[in-house]
Amino acid sequence: MSIVISVPKETRASEQRVALVPDIVKKLNAMGATVRIQSGAGDLAGYGDADYEAASATIVTDLQSLYQSADIVLTVNPLEGEQILHLKDGSILIGYQNPWTQTERFSALKDKHISAFSMEMVPRISRAQAMDTLSSQASIAGYKSVLMAASLSGKFLPMMTTAAGTVRPSKVLIIGAGVAGLQAIATARRLGAIVEGYDVRAAVKEQVESLGAKFVDIDIKAEGSGGYARELTAEEKQLQQDILARHVAAADVVICTAAIPGRPSPRIITTAMVEAMKGGSVIVDLAAEGGGNCELTQAGKSVVHQRVTVFGPVNVAATVPNHASELYSKNLLNMLSLIIKDKAVHIDLEDQILRDSLITHAGEIVNAGVLERLQNTGA
Ligand code: NAI
Repeated sequence: MSIVISVPKETRASEQRVALVPDIVKKLNAMGATVRIQSGAGDLAGYGDADYEAASATIVTDLQSLYQSADIVLTVNPLEGEQILHLKDGSILIGYQNPWTQTERFSALKDKHISAFSMEMVPRISRAQAMDTLSSQASIAGYKSVLMAASLSGKFLPMMTTAAGTVRPSKVLIIGAGVAGLQAIATARRLGAIVEGYDVRAAVKEQVESLGAKFVDIDIKAEGSGGYARELTAEEKQLQQDILARHVAAADVVICTAAIPGRPSPRIITTAMVEAMKGGSVIVDLAAEGGGNCELTQAGKSVVHQRVTVFGPVNVAATVPNHASELYSKNLLNMLSLIIKDKAVHIDLEDQILRDSLITHAGEIVNAGVLERLQNTGA
């Protein structure tokens, strides 16, 4: 009997992505799976029911049947209360699980013996790059953040030579040069801006420079574990602000991407730093959802403070839904190739990628990080 994979339509407000695109359906068939997808699930990403049918997926309108028939459910966003109750006991759920907040969902998943894989917890190791949705989606957000800034800015990004005179290129400062930041640097460079990049991990200096940007060198080395940054001490924060203030003041556009997993976004740009910027400058803060890298950021809003626009977009990858869904589906296909072997489902707990990303399994919460958080919050 073939493995049944179901894909519901995303319900999060402003979500436009879908967990599976038609091109991947055939590949799953070859692995021994049949695909059932909720009618209209791909509409906002540009994939119609007819595209899925042509790829041999079954279109389903009854949600209960969609979930109950599934051995594996694929989502982008975490499932919520009612949806979790629909899942077949003992089935597999793969998608973002938001492992840092709303951990009460994991009790419900545990009680239904769901094996829930969190795409946020896929380890950042070389072998896992093909399943790394954090990277595929952050890269899209980095690209889009520059387009957002360009459209909010009253200035050109490139140098413009016109009959009326020459206009200087915009100066763009990218704070945080991880996946999103590096893509933002590349995009701003392609648009002809003069770009500076800054990060607390000294290792990224070379990557920033290889993209044609200047690295803002501040003598802070804050490499944490797993390739991530650690939080800065009070002295380090002060040093960072003292030096960055000059670069922020000189920039026409600042893109913020600095993050520390599971922690609030580091506060890097103070109100005073914004007030020292030129009128008409723009800050796009990709860290808005975690509280923002700028003191004035409001998630989901654009605020103007003393003629400087501070924009805190949320769920930015969803605003490029067609390609974001395509890359996300490819990440899930690669994840599934670890779980489906010889046309059968097998969760190999010896595999680091599966072990690290598994949150609930066999009636238990098995993820050490989530367990610790539950203990700390007394949940
Ligand atoms: P992230 O989204 O957690 O953070 C973004 C950037 O903000 C990071 O570069 C971080 O160093 C920086 N940052 C944190 N606090 C800061 C502060 N106070 N001031 C300035 N910058 C600050 O990071 P992302 O993009 O998810 O990448 C994290 C790591 O994972 C990197 O080492 C990257 O090379 C690695 N990676 C590994 C992959 C793999 O091998 N599978 C795939 C992708 C990334």
